[in-house]
Amino acid sequence: MIHSERIVILDFGSQVTQLIARRVRECGVYAEIHPFTISSEKLRELQPKGIILSGGPASVYGEGAPHSTTAVFDMGVPILGICYGSQLISYQLGGEVIASDHREFGRAELLIDKTDPLFTGVGEKSIVWMSHGDHINKLADGFEVIAHTSTSPLCCFRNAERRIWGTLFHPEVHHSVDGKIILNNFVRAICGCHATWSAEAFIESKLDEIKNTVGDGGVICALSGGVDSTVAAVLLHQAIGDKLHCIHVDSGLMRSNESSTLAELFKQHFAMSIDVVDASELFLGRLANVSDPEQKRKIIGKSFIDVFEVEAKKFGDAKFLAQGTLYPDVIESVSVKGPSVTIKSHHNVGGLPEHMNLSLIEPFRELFKDEVRNVGRALGVPDWFVDRHPFPGPGLAIRVLGEITQERLEILRKADDIYLEEIRNAGLYNDIWQAFSVLLPVQSVGVMGDERTYENVCALRAVTSTDGMTADWFHMPYEVLARMSNRIINEVRGINRVVYDISSKPPATIEWE
Ligand code: XMP
Repeated sequence: MIHSERIVILDFGSQVTQLIARRVRECGVYAEIHPFTISSEKLRELQPKGIILSGGPASVYGEGAPHSTTAVFDMGVPILGICYGSQLISYQLGGEVIASDHREFGRAELLIDKTDPLFTGVGEKSIVWMSHGDHINKLADGFEVIAHTSTSPLCCFRNAERRIWGTLFHPEVHHSVDGKIILNNFVRAICGCHATWSAEAFIESKLDEIKNTVGDGGVICALSGGVDSTVAAVLLHQAIGDKLHCIHVDSGLMRSNESSTLAELFKQHFAMSIDVVDASELFLGRLANVSDPEQKRKIIGKSFIDVFEVEAKKFGDAKFLAQGTLYPDVIESVSVKGPSVTIKSHHNVGGLPEHMNLSLIEPFRELFKDEVRNVGRALGVPDWFVDRHPFPGPGLAIRVLGEITQERLEILRKADDIYLEEIRNAGLYNDIWQAFSVLLPVQSVGVMGDERTYENVCALRAVTSTDGMTADWFHMPYEVLARMSNRIINEVRGINRVVYDISSKPPATIEWE
């Protein structure tokens, strides 16, 4: 996709680099993240209107510390360094950065010393968020201080002539109260970008791009039932009409009516038909007597590919496979993150193209989840669908802990229906990032009427999060919990105890398996 105006963010390994891109895009300006190792040629090719240097965990003077090409400073476009990025500016241009006794983490009060276009609309004092150990001891020649905090006299600085700014605090994080104003000032007033990045503009240019790429070939889209693949299918359908073939594999591990709701949505709203393949027998057969979470995931991933391959053969003209891959997945692989262990093998349809000789089409490779939701809305996908909580590929298989049987799946579906209904009734659905029930592989004693019961335990989970990478448990009001528990135990045969999960991620994960 051609972006006439682009901000380039160089990633030095901060946990919040993605947030910079999100904030800039919220200002209506397209931003993309590149590794700090980018070559000067590639950087020039991108023709950025401005460059932002992210934060990062290293010390600029440390051995092997990430430094970018100094060509960054000769591009002739405005530069903003954030935290590590600001230290790097000082260091690479001849200032001095030292380790400090006063490490600064969290809230600080920023006091503005000089009028500057970066601070237009910001008062004399502003609450900002800091996270650094090193200090800038001396600015490089030609730089001057424009704001300070009690512990960082050189917190914000500029070289007006060279159009370079540095801020030790993080304007991209929510807790920096005027952070968004500051980033908006940088990209709009200083870099001169126009607010042209919108869902509508994205759709318009993507439609052309998809038509050009696809030509006469057909496209297969695997619909999981989630927001990303659904919105991708609607977009593709608008671009290429009947050349799109949508397949939804019903694994028998979906929530109640999930597959039929999906088919109905496409028929009613988009006059599109989708092939719903009932493969529940195959999935449940292969999962019989399997309790190990990783084994479950592998079986499901493999079964999905097997079914999909058979179905896709029916569309002999297909040359492409559409996927709802999002930007965070793309930058995970280009960023400077260290090697990480596999906590869970997430399954998607990766691996299919090699098997099947299909090229990939990933229209949302540049988008964050909330942007996909906006694209969905702009394409007419109803809010109740667009705002749905994420649902994992392996479905209820990882929520029926231990062995999976039809009976246990049905118990869980009933409990989950009640749980989500009560969340909606309480008006809490959109305050929660993800909510679901889990059927535990333990039984507990209860008493119903005058009878002793020995039945299943159901755990309720609700979390707040922005991207699923970290999460906190949702503080569900007691009276809502009471109603949920009461209804589930009374209405669902097979459950006599309900518990609420109060673990954050980390150290727990969102799903239980
Ligand atoms: P965890 O449990 O790893 O989950 O904290 C983070 C987010 O990812 C979802 N999830 C999956 N999504 N395939 C998916 O498409 C998977 O195998 C999978 N496992 C977890 C989970 O629901 C949460 O939103």
